Amino acid sequence: MALRKCFLALALTAHLSCEGSSLQVSAAGKTCVKVIGDESYTCCDLGLNEIPESLPSSLKILDFSFNAIFAIYQSTFSRLRSLRHLDLTRCLISWLYEGAFASNPDLDTLVLIGNPLISVEISVILVGLMGVNAHILRIGTFQDVADNIGIAPHMLQAICNITTAEVNLQNMHFSGLSSSTFQCLTKIQKLDLTNTGLSDLPSGISNNSLLTDLILNENSFEHACDIKLASFPFLTRLSLKRTEALQLGSGCFKDLAKLQYLDLSISGIGSSDCCSAQFQGLVSLKYLNLSYNDMHTVQDLAFQDNIHLELLDFTHTHLKVNASQKPFRNLQHLRMLNLSSSHADTSNRDLLTGLKSLVILNLKGNAFSSGIIHSSNLLQQVPNLEVLILSECELIAIDNEAFHNLTKLKYVLLNRNKLTMFSTNAFYDLRQIVLNFAENHIKIIPQKMVNGISGLSIIDLSYNPLDCSCDNIEFLTWLHKNMDKMENLEETSCSTPNALAGTRLDMVMLSCGVPVVVIVLIVVLLPLLIAASAFMILYCLKRRYHSI
Ligand SMILES: *[C@@H]1O[C@H](CO)[C@@H](O)[C@H](O)[C@H]1NC(C)=O
Ligand SMILES: *[C@@H]1O[C@H](CO)[C@@H](O)[C@H](O)[C@H]1NC(C)=O
Ligand SMILES: *[C@@H]1O[C@H](CO)[C@@H](O)[C@H](O)[C@H]1NC(C)=O
Ligand SMILES: *[C@@H]1O[C@H](CO)[C@@H](O)[C@H](O)[C@H]1NC(C)=O
Ligand SMILES: *[C@@H]1O[C@H](CO)[C@@H](O)[C@H](O)[C@H]1NC(C)=O
Ligand SMILES: *[C@@H]1O[C@H](CO)[C@@H](O)[C@H](O)[C@H]1NC(C)=O
Repeated sequence: MALRKCFLALALTAHLSCEGSSLQVSAAGKTCVKVIGDESYTCCDLGLNEIPESLPSSLKILDFSFNAIFAIYQSTFSRLRSLRHLDLTRCLISWLYEGAFASNPDLDTLVLIGNPLISVEISVILVGLMGVNAHILRIGTFQDVADNIGIAPHMLQAICNITTAEVNLQNMHFSGLSSSTFQCLTKIQKLDLTNTGLSDLPSGISNNSLLTDLILNENSFEHACDIKLASFPFLTRLSLKRTEALQLGSGCFKDLAKLQYLDLSISGIGSSDCCSAQFQGLVSLKYLNLSYNDMHTVQDLAFQDNIHLELLDFTHTHLKVNASQKPFRNLQHLRMLNLSSSHADTSNRDLLTGLKSLVILNLKGNAFSSGIIHSSNLLQQVPNLEVLILSECELIAIDNEAFHNLTKLKYVLLNRNKLTMFSTNAFYDLRQIVLNFAENHIKIIPQKMVNGISGLSIIDLSYNPLDCSCDNIEFLTWLHKNMDKMENLEETSCSTPNALAGTRLDMVMLSCGVPVVVIVLIVVLLPLLIAASAFMILYCLKRRYHSI
């Protein structure tokens, strides 16, 4: 993460120096670079041992990550009184003196991730941070640090003396956790305990009335009830990503009436009777991510309490629904449903019943019976759909009326299928639609299929085995007049005839010789002409013979 951030900063600075507008500040031959306005500088990864004197004292944002300053004294940042955001990721800092940031009353975000001071003792840092009002405090470490650093309960007590809204302790390990460990965290709003070796949280944690955002990714909880979520009744966001094999149990989330966002992705979750008991009580839930889990057998009305859901992600989670059941029928606010690679039963026409507000539907990687989308299909239930993803569904054909009920459709991905026809009949409105038919088996496109494409519409036919002979002249002619309606033209090339294979379609200038009408005239009129001449000659000969 931090490395990437550094790269980003460097990329940005490179760009800025190209513009010649950036003022550079140098220290011992190394240059810090101004990023935006007068207020933001990056000195990322310059091997600096001190803060350059030449940095303006008015600066507000300083990325000083990946340098080597070893310790922070009261004087280190005393000149930079306006500092708001300070990134000291991996700066080899092992000591933080008391009052180290006493001169920086506006400090809002302080990042100390990956510094060896964590191996000294967290209380040292916390004493050093006394009086700091930073809104966001990222201490944590990197995953690759050989020994995970233990946090004994008494160490966290020092947090009582700092006021900060967000604390990140990722990759540190707690030893001897008790309810008093968390006693001082009551002022915190956001707590990140990613990969801290937790398998349960103690009960009786004091009423964490301010904590709204709890990140518990990559821990070892076996059962959601072990987290004792009743201690956090004001949570609005909870993330439990990458828990190895989590059992959701029944009612473990029931006290989280304010929870809006729940991420349970990649956590080995499986259930044979999902989901109303598991998500009971989550009456404010808007976002639920269940992607990359095991199999779920989903009941009718599976999200009974979660009527405010707006986004549901089932990607790569095997979704089993008994025939003709309507699992989502009460989710009238759902706007996005991702069922990609979920083995969804697309022949169940009731699967999507009730999703009146659905705008985005991702069905990528699901099969349709015989490879055909029939005119009566599950999509007729979602009339407000704007984005439909049907990539990699092994489709060979789409019925003419398949999408007629979807009058708002604006973006349709049908790439990576086995379609041989480019047909626009199935779509209700062709004035403002993006149709992606890339990587199919389309050769010839009749003119009537492209005639209706107008306004802002765009089609993508790249990577199809397109024919560039006179058989396809109608489309080629249309294309030359409508280049602006084609996406990915550089990858749209001829496959046949051999002489043109690989040539971009827009480069092909085909002259298909004598127009058909002329040929017809010639074919019909020539024998007539011959017959008429013969008759004339015969007549003349006859006259001459008579006159003799
Ligand atoms: C908090 O600060 C006070 C002095 O301001 C000190 O006496 C006390 O020990 C500190 N508490 C912790 C837990 O560090
Ligand atoms: C926590 O505090 C809230 C209000 O601040 C209160 O309604 C609730 O009963 C308290 N819960 C416990 C377990 O003390
Ligand atoms: C759900 O989680 C997966 C994996 O963590 C992530 O890639 C995906 O973007 C999430 N879905 C949404 C809609 O945020
Ligand atoms: C699905 O149907 C089978 C038999 O038809 C039944 O045993 C099972 O309980 C049903 N599952 C659900 C979730 O309704
Ligand atoms: C599911 O699809 C949606 C919409 O295309 C996307 O935003 C989301 O990230 C996808 N989820 C995963 C896990 O890729
Ligand atoms: C379109 O939807 C309406 C009700 O939503 C339904 O009566 C009609 O049969 C649907 N059209 C098709 C072609 O299925």
